[in-house]
Amino acid sequence: LWQLLPRDKSQPPLVWHWIPFLGSAPAYGRDPIAFFRECREKYGNVFTFILLGRRVTVTLGPQGNDFVLGGKHTQLAAEPVYGPLTTPIFGKDVVYDCPNEKLMEQKKFVKVSLTIDKFRAYVGMIDDEVKDYLNTDASFKVYQMDDINEWGTFPVLKSFAEMTILTASRTLQGREIRESLTKDYAQVYSDLDHGFTPLHWMIPGLPLPSYRRRDAAHTKMSSFYQSILRKRRENPTENQEDDVMNSLMKQRYRDGKQLPDHEIAHILIALLMAGQHTSSSSLAWAVLHVAARADIQEALYKEQVQHFGTPDGGLRDFGYDEIRDLNILDAVVRETLRLHPPIHSIMRKANVDIPVPVTLGTPSEDSVFVVPKGDIVLASPLISQVDPGVWDNSESWEPTRWYDEKGVAAKANKEYNEGEKVDFGFGLVSKGTVSPYLPFGAGRHRCIGEQFAYLQISTVISSLVRRMEFRYEGTFPAPDYSSMMVQPVPCQIHYRRRKFE
Ligand code: HEM
Repeated sequence: LWQLLPRDKSQPPLVWHWIPFLGSAPAYGRDPIAFFRECREKYGNVFTFILLGRRVTVTLGPQGNDFVLGGKHTQLAAEPVYGPLTTPIFGKDVVYDCPNEKLMEQKKFVKVSLTIDKFRAYVGMIDDEVKDYLNTDASFKVYQMDDINEWGTFPVLKSFAEMTILTASRTLQGREIRESLTKDYAQVYSDLDHGFTPLHWMIPGLPLPSYRRRDAAHTKMSSFYQSILRKRRENPTENQEDDVMNSLMKQRYRDGKQLPDHEIAHILIALLMAGQHTSSSSLAWAVLHVAARADIQEALYKEQVQHFGTPDGGLRDFGYDEIRDLNILDAVVRETLRLHPPIHSIMRKANVDIPVPVTLGTPSEDSVFVVPKGDIVLASPLISQVDPGVWDNSESWEPTRWYDEKGVAAKANKEYNEGEKVDFGFGLVSKGTVSPYLPFGAGRHRCIGEQFAYLQISTVISSLVRRMEFRYEGTFPAPDYSSMMVQPVPCQIHYRRRKFE
């Protein structure tokens, strides 16, 4: 009933709810995007809702993205929000279980191992993994047969989750870890993965089997990585691989200290887990759209033939520098990340009272709300990525918006804000926090895996499109918001082998 009392006008409006502790959790959990849009209609770009007893203040639009992503880390902290979910999975002393300055150093160490030279080597490895997977996985039985006219189906979520973990571990994690995936560690990965859910986030410690399995899996995985580290230290000449583990072993913090083994292990686990659902759901959406759009599929295949066709009608292997020149492929990835960014809510915790301009963009002295200390603040780049004021046909998947009729990369869409220049994130790395297009976030916590993810997703799509034709039948799958990342509901894609493979 207190919601009916005159509210404190200095605070953002509170979304009406019937059950005090639960608040708007059911509406947010069911479909956050519909919930945000409805609230924006009623309350404007800034409003607060209750999520299981917590106050969450949402700031929408490009300025809202800027408020959260560009905020000072001393005022808006990621650790208290994400730590309870990620620390039991990643482990101690890394990412959100350490001061932000330490995370910044850890991100720098990882960047050193994600260089263009490494990427050049990764393209072939990813293509090989996809080829092996198609030749051995039971879902691709039809692919393995001689009859090229036969159509089969494969389960989208399972197949892309497996291709992602195989390609990411082969490239980033090193030989021992890639080999372990096919043996006893598949279950360990799966148990860790099952700890990555909204329930584990909202209530970090419950006496349930999935929590016990998550914790046991973390201990086993961390010990396994540390045993590899010990072996590598004992026999430094034996393993000279150019992988992230070896690179992290050489790094030192600013105070001159080396990274202890448990931190290296936990950074590697963090990289594997942070990239898994994000990349596999992006791949799933991309290939689903390609399967449903014969014209784009044809354009993608022709692009392969044009760049890599051989005189005998086959296709040669491709390299990193070459794949970066494929504008249609690039547009498919960009457009998929516009419409389906896997992370729909980016959150921080306010450490102090923070003023936020009501309209986010046109601040004036008497239109300033204060977000009280203790609130979670939330930005949702997805809302601006499908804003009809920025994008033509904002709800449809239309890669052609990213290239012109000659297939040349073009700056997409309406000039945002009547001719104002807008940063859509071209050239892979865009640093600005005021942008309607931020699938990889921005600012201090910007994704560290952006370039790797782009490479991985583009290479897997190339590998598939050149070997197979796809078809999607029926109603296009809806987004499933019940897990931490937005993925399609379970569905199947039809495929058959291409002739000149
Ligand atoms: C952070 C998206 C793939 C590692 C983020 C953030 C976003 C994002 C939006 C910022 C979160 C925030 O500000 O709260 C994506 C998408 C991906 C992807 C869309 C794939 C399509 C990857 C991969 C890796 C990775 C492959 C590892 C190799 C990380 C890490 C952070 C992060 C470690 C935390 C950075 C920090 O808090 O400072 N990602 N990511 N991501 N990402 Fe990614």
